[in-house]
Amino acid sequence: MAIDSADIAVRTLRLQVDEVIRETADAVTLVLSTADGEALRYRPGQFLTVEIPLSDGSSAARCYSLSSSPDTGERPAISVKRTAGGLGSTWLCDTVTAGSALTTLAPAGTFVPARWDRPLVLVAAGSGITPVLSILKTALASHDGPVVLFYANRDPGSVMFAATLDDLQQRHPDRLTVRHWHESASGLPTATGLTDVVSGIAGADAYLCGPTPFMEVAQQGLLAAGVSPENIHREVFSSITTDPFDAVLVETSPGTGVPVSAEVEGDDHSFHCAPDTVLLDAMLAEGIDAPFVCREGNCGACAFTLVSGDVHMRVNDTLDQYEFDRGVRLACQSVPVSNALTIRID
Ligand SMILES: Cc1cc2nc3c(=O)[nH]c(=O)nc-3n(C[C@H](O)[C@H](O)[C@H](O)COP(=O)(O)OP(=O)(O)OC[C@H]3O[C@@H](n4cnc5c(N)ncnc54)[C@H](O)[C@@H]3O)c2cc1C
Ligand code: FES
Repeated sequence: MAIDSADIAVRTLRLQVDEVIRETADAVTLVLSTADGEALRYRPGQFLTVEIPLSDGSSAARCYSLSSSPDTGERPAISVKRTAGGLGSTWLCDTVTAGSALTTLAPAGTFVPARWDRPLVLVAAGSGITPVLSILKTALASHDGPVVLFYANRDPGSVMFAATLDDLQQRHPDRLTVRHWHESASGLPTATGLTDVVSGIAGADAYLCGPTPFMEVAQQGLLAAGVSPENIHREVFSSITTDPFDAVLVETSPGTGVPVSAEVEGDDHSFHCAPDTVLLDAMLAEGIDAPFVCREGNCGACAFTLVSGDVHMRVNDTLDQYEFDRGVRLACQSVPVSNALTIRID
């Protein structure tokens, strides 16, 4: 079988930092604009992947959720909390100033509410508030249901967006309940502490973001409060180890394998995907502008919907059962296991 390899260069955005807002001693918000003045198109809960320059001239990549909402007219912004000894967060917190330019990938990710007609339970710890705040602001600005936010931090001084949250609560007293949990006063967050806040909200969709042990406890609390497991969505913050800004080498066997029909952002494509080739590589080798970031199965940027046929996912560290049941799969980890495939990328 002939193997073709091709270097694929990823499409990048050049964003200007208009303002740096110090949120806490350890966290900043970078307010952004596009170089051409065009609006940045994103959905609440999505993230940007930022190129981090290294001293040897190479680069790394780190993902940061947009803390702004696309539905309130505010400028796009990411919010970064310093990780001790961390490569990307240290550079962004210490080096970037108003006027700096950032190279990023297009907004991506699946931590985005698919429906807004249910009560929302939002659960965050530390910097996990960033995608949750974006969802919260969109819910209040563009939808009608009640929203509960449970936000855990070490102490009052480490609460990001404290003033914004107070302001939102004052402006929406009938719809928004904010419950802060401070470890300094109450110890580590408990499942019961969350259950008490959430109980009484029937049929809610829940969005969780924070360290993994926190999300495990939060999940127990939500289940005890009667939230259905398929309605609990998680965003995992981790550092990606690949560099999507580097040209990506893909190896495929063109013209062989399973026929695939793909609708990618409204354009129709037909190609073949060999049984040992992941769909993302087959699309990139065809010249299709398919989205991706980590290529490791943990960011969700390459998510697609399986319309017909079946795939095997080698790794899935990001999709939850709700998404899986609706046919969502990761292109960077999916190999075909049926005779034909039809897929869609929105
Ligand atoms: C989808 C997504 C959205 C995200 N959104 C946000 C957000 O909105 N805000 C935010 O602040 N973060 C966010 N993150 C997390 C962010 O991408 C980074 O993981 C985070 O900033 C830490 O990166 P860093 O480069 O500063 O630290 P890293 O350099 O990755 O280091 C992390 C830790 O590991 C240690 N370490 C590093 N290398 C080694 C080594 N070789 N041996 C031992 N220890 C080591 C460091 O000392 C540090 O404590 C998000 C992540 C994802 C995937
Ligand atoms: S590119 Fe990150 S999960 Fe596929």
